[in-house]
Amino acid sequence: MDLPLDLINLLRTSHRVAALTGAGVSQESGLRTFRDSRDGLWKQYQPEELASPAAFARDPKLIWDWYAWRREAIKAVRPNAGHYALVEAARHISDFTLVTQNVDGLHCMAGSSKVIELHGNLQRVRCSQCGEFAEDWNDDGVNVPRCALCGGLLRPHVVWFGESLPRAELELAIEASRHCELFFSIGTSGVVQPAATLAYAAHNRGAAVVEINTERTPLTPKADYFFQGKSGEILPELVQAVWPK
Ligand code: OAD
Repeated sequence: MDLPLDLINLLRTSHRVAALTGAGVSQESGLRTFRDSRDGLWKQYQPEELASPAAFARDPKLIWDWYAWRREAIKAVRPNAGHYALVEAARHISDFTLVTQNVDGLHCMAGSSKVIELHGNLQRVRCSQCGEFAEDWNDDGVNVPRCALCGGLLRPHVVWFGESLPRAELELAIEASRHCELFFSIGTSGVVQPAATLAYAAHNRGAAVVEINTERTPLTPKADYFFQGKSGEILPELVQAVWPK
């Protein structure tokens, strides 16, 4: 792959870099994305029937079980070369902010620190009533586990459609995109708000925008650099070109 020299130099000299990742980054770890035309989760399931407060109110057991199934699927997977390349990049950049829409925890497992998880984390569970996090729970396979404090139903700590993003995380993500010199959009279709606006916030403030995706997205025409391909291949190549070992 031909990597533009000006991008290599920009990465070497940038002090503030932000990256937003989406489900595509975990695709090479074996996790399904949401909107891929062949096997995207939202091609098979209706988001509003599985990922909304109304769905949980209607059938909490169905929703609990669906997330328990995804939680189990995640236990079997490992970070891929793309996740590790981002860990390496962060070692060289003084102010590197990694924002993810993924709830799989794979960036942290790879060794990234201070990951901003905009949509929560599937491994965490909280009470749907009092909001208290549960460290462990007993799933008897029949009933949705309940909060030890108030007896409310437990739910996954993920953002559902119609819910607000965690405020502190969103503020940090906006701040990072407004002040970075370089913004990476990696493996995301860029259609879910407000995460999708981060790249535009960076672009409007003069940052160079780099997109890595197997497909073109609505962001592609605005991107200064677009690399079409797998993040697990492109990211390691880019990192090696910028900081050769
Ligand atoms: P999507 O499924 O919408 O998009 C995944 C993107 O990754 C697509 O643009 C693919 O072309 C691209 N892709 C697939 N494999 C790739 C690879 N190996 N390397 C690089 N790119 C690849 O997933 P997100 O954009 O993450 O929200 O979706 C955003 C949100 O929508 C998710 O966080 C989730 C979902 O509803 C919640 O659950 C709140």
